[in-house]
Amino acid sequence: MRLAYRMLAALKSATGKIITATSKLLLKVWHWLKGLLRAIANLWKAIGPRWFRRSVALVAVVLLGYTAAAAYLAPNFTRETIYRVHYLNEGWSEQQRQSYYYTPQGTELLGMDYDWFVNLELPLSHELLASESNMRGWGFVVDPNQRPSAMNPGNLPVGLTRHIDPQSGRERLDIGCATCHTGELHYQGTALRVDGGQALQSIPTSKRGEFITTLGASVFETLLNPAKWDRFATRLVGDDTDKRGELRAQFWQFAGKLKEFSSTAGAAKYYPVEEGRGRTDAVGRIGNVVFGFDLQEPANYKVADAPASYPFLWDIWRFDWVQYTGFTNQAMTRNVGESLGVLAPIKLVDADGKLLTGSDFGETAVDIDGMHCVEGLLRELEPPKWPQQILGEIDIARARAGKALFAEQCAFCHGPHISKPFEWQVADGPDAKLPGQIAVNWQWDMAGEITRRDGLAYRADWRETMWALPWIATDVIGTDPKLADNFVDNRYDISKLIPDGEPVNAGYGLQLLLNTLVPKLYQQWDIDDAQRVADFDGLNVPFRIENQRAYKARPLHGVWATPPFLHNGSVPTIYDLLSPLRARPQTFYVGNREYDPHKLGYVTEYSPGSFKMDTTIAGNRNSGHLFTDVDMPGRIGKLLSERERFAIIEYLKVMGNPDFDTALGGDPLNWDSYSQAPASDSTQQACANSHRSIGIGGTHLLAQETAQ
Ligand code: HEC
Ligand code: HEC
Repeated sequence: MRLAYRMLAALKSATGKIITATSKLLLKVWHWLKGLLRAIANLWKAIGPRWFRRSVALVAVVLLGYTAAAAYLAPNFTRETIYRVHYLNEGWSEQQRQSYYYTPQGTELLGMDYDWFVNLELPLSHELLASESNMRGWGFVVDPNQRPSAMNPGNLPVGLTRHIDPQSGRERLDIGCATCHTGELHYQGTALRVDGGQALQSIPTSKRGEFITTLGASVFETLLNPAKWDRFATRLVGDDTDKRGELRAQFWQFAGKLKEFSSTAGAAKYYPVEEGRGRTDAVGRIGNVVFGFDLQEPANYKVADAPASYPFLWDIWRFDWVQYTGFTNQAMTRNVGESLGVLAPIKLVDADGKLLTGSDFGETAVDIDGMHCVEGLLRELEPPKWPQQILGEIDIARARAGKALFAEQCAFCHGPHISKPFEWQVADGPDAKLPGQIAVNWQWDMAGEITRRDGLAYRADWRETMWALPWIATDVIGTDPKLADNFVDNRYDISKLIPDGEPVNAGYGLQLLLNTLVPKLYQQWDIDDAQRVADFDGLNVPFRIENQRAYKARPLHGVWATPPFLHNGSVPTIYDLLSPLRARPQTFYVGNREYDPHKLGYVTEYSPGSFKMDTTIAGNRNSGHLFTDVDMPGRIGKLLSERERFAIIEYLKVMGNPDFDTALGGDPLNWDSYSQAPASDSTQQACANSHRSIGIGGTHLLAQETAQ
């Protein structure tokens, strides 16, 4: 008792002392502050008269504001030092490569003129926004010594090109296929170009400092800052007052569209999972643009929270079904659907939101020739070859061991499962129904090359052999199911297309729309006889939809050059993909293109401009496709030892590469052993037509030179 009392007393006196000391200290600080403020006030007064002091204050506020704004708007660039480019894929001449890079498809950036884009400056800066180093900093692919050319007069990155807007006759910026389907691996100053590979830009990401947000800021500053406007207008139209006035009106109109889009189909709230570098929720965005924006049906805006990693395109023409979920089969319709998602302007409804009819319906900038051209080019592209002189020698004994492991552990899913050409059954009359299809356009089905047998009509696939890809259900493969779930489950109101129609998923919605739209475009392009329809459809394939809650297992030639992996890019390297779940990195950085030839992926440490991939977020999960001895969801094989993983890695570097066939003791996946695409002159003609439309004449760009 006594002890407790004594302790309490001691505590009391100690507390008292602390309180006194603290208040004394506070008082001292207060006096000191007061003195300081008084001194500053005196100093301020000593500067000069009141008007002068006010001006100084104003300048200070403006400077501070400017610095804060500049910091806020600072572009988010990655930094890369590249001295030379080495091309990894064979099959293309330099002309064909340029054609792939710069053939337009009819997409737009809400009506941005090509010249405008080339002449815009960064916000709060005189520097051109689309300069080579800036665009590279945003992850676009740019040659180190690139110069303007006939195909690329604006000296823009791979994929950014131009088309003529049919209505206004103006040259518009066009986001071509190569923007998203061209990759680059960097290694010690050398850029290894992967044609048809995975891009690493983040076009749609509306985060501070990213491409699209910086572009938006630049557009508005150009309109509001007279000095910036003056430089912009002078570069484009000189001093002519009328032209400057016209330009200003057009530019305001464009800014209005940008604003409208960013508060509707492009609103950040619909894209809560950051797409980041190298990904976009393509199907979700197509749904929002086509069923929401183009059809003017705000109820159709859906959350698109399953970003997809840009896939690679060599061998894609051999596939029976394409897209990660394998939801469609026909090249042309797939491409038209994609172009609408990438904002190819199209008229579907009138000012009151009512569906247009007759020739008004479907007025668009979509370039059917451009798409047919690119399809033709892709059929000649070969997978990338591992460059031993740059990335290191192959250990043949190890690769041989990997070949055996691949045959045992991987080939039954990844194939390729070579199939005889399909006979696609077609609807041969208005009442004909086909299983799994919500609607078929029987006239279009029958417009191709038709075979009849046993009273049924077919289109015989023109491929000599094709690859049948297995769908692996999401609950078997166990990878993040969101992309497949969204595709199967999201419902869009399509009552404008078919009155009283029940809401449908994106696949069926696209089927309903494109069944009408594509034949309409064919009319405009005079594609009318059976051969031409079959040809433009893509190898006589009728347009079909499949709705599977699954991901397809694709053949893996050249996959080593397409990090990061899985449909959502959630696993940075092949080594990690072959490792158990707990060993896969939970978070990593994407954006730096320096390659790790050991694990087969990009380096994953933080670097300026990179995007933090957090796999704990639904949509980003890195689960599934597991090799483990633990019985768990997504297990597809036994635990692979470290040795086995590296053997498989060694084989994947050269799998199918004919140069290694002998060394490997024969490779069953040798890509020289696969049948070639049927010859077609029409794709070259389509390239010529598309190029001519943007003022590039002559045949020099189309010559089928022997591949270097
Ligand atoms: C804005 C980026 C972008 C552009 C431009 C683009 N694509 Fe894609 N493409 C994607 C994404 C993302 C996917 C995967 C979407 C999915 O399956 O969910 C894809 C899928 C594909 C597929 C299916 C791949 C597979 O593994 O099954 C093909 C084929 C394809 N694109 C071809 C093209 C062609 C040809 C063009 C030009 C006419 C084009 N793309 C333009 C981003 C783009
Ligand atoms: C049960 C079938 C199955 C087996 C067995 C299998 N895979 Fe896969 N694999 C898939 C599917 C399905 C995907 C696509 C999953 C996704 O994107 O979510 C895939 C994706 C991949 C990818 C990523 C491709 C890309 O575009 O990012 C690689 C690499 C891969 N597999 C390698 C292998 C290797 C190596 C083996 C053998 C050691 C193997 N797989 C065994 C079904 C399988």
